[in-house]
Amino acid sequence: MASGEIVVKVRTKTGYDNIRAVWFENEKVMMIDQRELPHEVKIVGFTEYPDVAEAIKNMTTRGAPSIGATAAYAMCLAALSESDIDKASKDIKAARPTANDLFYAVDYMCAELKKGKDPIEAADAYAQMMVDKCTKIGEYGGELIKNGMKLMTHCNAGALATVDVGTALAPMRKAHADHKKFFVYVSETRPRLQGMQLTAWELNQEGIDHAIIPDGASAYYMSQGVDMIITGADRIAANGDFANKIGTFDKAIVAKHFGIPFYVAAPISTFDFNTRTGREIVIEQRSEKEVTEVYNQRIAPVGSPALNPAFDVTPADLVTGFITEKGIFTPDEISKVKE
Ligand code: MRU
Repeated sequence: MASGEIVVKVRTKTGYDNIRAVWFENEKVMMIDQRELPHEVKIVGFTEYPDVAEAIKNMTTRGAPSIGATAAYAMCLAALSESDIDKASKDIKAARPTANDLFYAVDYMCAELKKGKDPIEAADAYAQMMVDKCTKIGEYGGELIKNGMKLMTHCNAGALATVDVGTALAPMRKAHADHKKFFVYVSETRPRLQGMQLTAWELNQEGIDHAIIPDGASAYYMSQGVDMIITGADRIAANGDFANKIGTFDKAIVAKHFGIPFYVAAPISTFDFNTRTGREIVIEQRSEKEVTEVYNQRIAPVGSPALNPAFDVTPADLVTGFITEKGIFTPDEISKVKE
């Protein structure tokens, strides 16, 4: 357990209606420990910014906008403890390399602190801004979902990944609230299982009809009839190439083969206009143990190494549209997002 970490076990069956993925309370950055879901809703809190950076690194919290909000709160702790802000920025930005929201949030907090803003108010405003953006994404994207549709998603781009509401799951939440009937294929997302453990948990909480499928079964189900795929993104380059959880690229290729619309839901904080194409996106390589072990038990032959890229890059020409808080844009319209 990291220093300063406290644990509160929330015994609830109805989930997280009154709590968010990350928030600030009594001088602590609080977050759901997403490594424990779906078995237990465990809340942890941190008082020191390096512990919050570590929580991003070890995926206590994860998902691009949640990583951004957590980084904003880490910056808030750094400011409250009068730490060196430049050093804190560097330490926090070093937690994970791919999600643009991490860098966006740290730069946002540096600018707000320079203006003399209160650190807690600035970080709270950042987190709320993400929730508001996701709500708009839900409104635009919800229009795409029609009665009787079969959808597919990958990884977790729900409330857990975005403070609240979600990006890819926001349109589904909105359509469900509007009493539309639809079904979601949730690909399990080896090796960290964010689809099976987090997305399925969220859809279950909401009462949205879904089934978990092995990652390798997505082409099969697309061949049987999928109407639309919606995923999130960790970084979207200026030309519309985007990085998302490993396995997204395969789905986009197969979707193109079957003529299935492929949408990417993300706030504008995920767009990185300084990165010209997907080739420039740094892909995080994680420990091979995430592949070779299950619950700390080795299941691979001793002596066989494993490779574990956390993300892949999907080229823009496989994307039907980007669902943002400002509307839906095709890859050709991306310059409008910049404006
Ligand atoms: O490694 P993770 O779990 O942080 O990866 C998360 C994803 O790839 C999500 O799809 C992405 O961050 C979008 S979250 C709204």
